[in-house]
Amino acid sequence: MSFGEKIIAWYTSNKRELPWRENPQPYSTWLSEIILQQTRVAQGLPYYTKFITAYPTVEELARAPIDEVLKLWQGLGYYSRARNMHITAQEVVKKHAGIFPSSYHQLIQLKGIGEYTAAAIASICNQEKVAVVDGNVYRVLSRHFSISTPIDTTAGKRLFKELANSLILSPTAQYNQGIMELGALICTPKKAQCTICPLHHSCEGYHNNSHYAFPVKSKKNKVRERYLDYFVIVDNNKSILLHKRQSGDIWEGLYEFPLKEKLLPNDSIEWPDELKNTLVENDFRILADPVTAVHLLSHQKLIVRFIPVHIHQTLTADASLSFSYKVVAHNEVASFPVPQLVHNFLDKHFENLLSLYF
Ligand code: ADE
Repeated sequence: MSFGEKIIAWYTSNKRELPWRENPQPYSTWLSEIILQQTRVAQGLPYYTKFITAYPTVEELARAPIDEVLKLWQGLGYYSRARNMHITAQEVVKKHAGIFPSSYHQLIQLKGIGEYTAAAIASICNQEKVAVVDGNVYRVLSRHFSISTPIDTTAGKRLFKELANSLILSPTAQYNQGIMELGALICTPKKAQCTICPLHHSCEGYHNNSHYAFPVKSKKNKVRERYLDYFVIVDNNKSILLHKRQSGDIWEGLYEFPLKEKLLPNDSIEWPDELKNTLVENDFRILADPVTAVHLLSHQKLIVRFIPVHIHQTLTADASLSFSYKVVAHNEVASFPVPQLVHNFLDKHFENLLSLYF
């Protein structure tokens, strides 16, 4: 059997039963693939169910308010995926009258769809012969063929794409899903199960016991530390000040408490710059020691303090505060889309902290 035949045979008898695999349609396949980028199936599955239930068609997703979409996405991280997904849904409605295309040629012309997603949808829904190349595919191919070209270089990307396209076999829906499934279940980053792998007879990495050296990357992941102080400002009406992040970063459109980012870690408390001339600084009381948290992102380590502040002045969203601030009742905070680290704080500490105020 050829490389491709082994993958298809293995996939046919070992694939996981997943809702988007039952009767694959371009819209549901697209949704599942966007969710599965950088997310494991076990974690992504409940989100897929939530989204397909809330928005059974691309038109419904396109019409939904972005705040609602971000709220449903909360916890998956990489919020730009949700924002782009929403924009792409609107593009499909506009350009294709709400009928999600299934051909690679049409898919790749959509602004929000890249090579990987176009190849996945076109092969899964239209049996087109275009290979997917994701993290699973890089791992399986680099180990099997012992390829040391770094995958994060232009040369590496081209080489793996060409190799993948030279190996692809019909039915391509089974082949493409099969190689990704093999990477997800057998040829895993750690504890690979080589002895039950259908490809191990021909796998160079396995024979040389070098499989964990692959895939090779040229850059080490540099992690930057950031120090964030969030001010949980509550007034006598139990209203809270929230800030909506504006464009230009990974948390665009999400809500958080007023923030002071410090360049260096120290215990001093510095009032957020934007609030300096608006809320009366000397009219507040810090109620307790901050709640601290550490949150890891792919390139950042966030060292966070939530500082409980009681303010005598009544909070109002008046002209002195920029439009990105919002005054909300304490029991409404949880209904806003927030970054995961703020969600964790609300979940674990907010109730306790509120009891300090009154
Ligand atoms: N990871 C991302 N997409 C996948 C798919 N369609 N099948 C298996 N694993 C995946």
